Amino acid sequence: MSESSRSVDTTVDVGVAAGFRVAVSVEVNGTVVERTVEARSVLSDFLRGDLGLTGTKVSCELQVCGVCTVLVDGRPVSSCTYLTADADGRSVTTVEGLSDGQTLHPLQEAFVDCMGLQCGFCTPGFLMMSKALLDENPEPEHEEIVEHLEGNICRCTGYRPIVQAVEQAAAQQRATAAGRAGGQGEA
Ligand code: FES
Ligand code: FES
Repeated sequence: MSESSRSVDTTVDVGVAAGFRVAVSVEVNGTVVERTVEARSVLSDFLRGDLGLTGTKVSCELQVCGVCTVLVDGRPVSSCTYLTADADGRSVTTVEGLSDGQTLHPLQEAFVDCMGLQCGFCTPGFLMMSKALLDENPEPEHEEIVEHLEGNICRCTGYRPIVQAVEQAAAQQRATAAGRAGGQGEA
């Protein structure tokens, strides 16, 4: 078979084969998982269906509501429209990865303290979006938090307690970091 005929065959296979599948290797919450998925698979389906990580919710499936937000290499993405194949070789953090299994993440504690959730359906998306903000900016202004979260929709809370929760978590994280730095200074 000549080089040119091989290349034509490959194009036909990729173009018309229903259910074309690709192998992916993705680090999810610190564990590398290797799977073969449909090329059209989106990350929310991969997380929820293939891996059973149902903490990530799905609503609009149009990149409008923010409920499906997860972090890919530390940056927030809408997993409802992010192709699983594009996560190959990357690190994904979901809401299940926030807690260490013993202690809630400061954001989770603050959402509870401030009543930043009611039905809770939007909460995983808000938590992950808020984590992305605090990882980048440990001391955000009130308006920065509001602006950062404006792509996330909550039908229950009125948003104010959510913003308060992020402010509380930021303060808590700064206090913890200062305590650690002080402890190291004394050692
Ligand atoms: S379900 Fe992804 S943005 Fe709404
Ligand atoms: S707590 Fe119900 S949608 Fe936000």
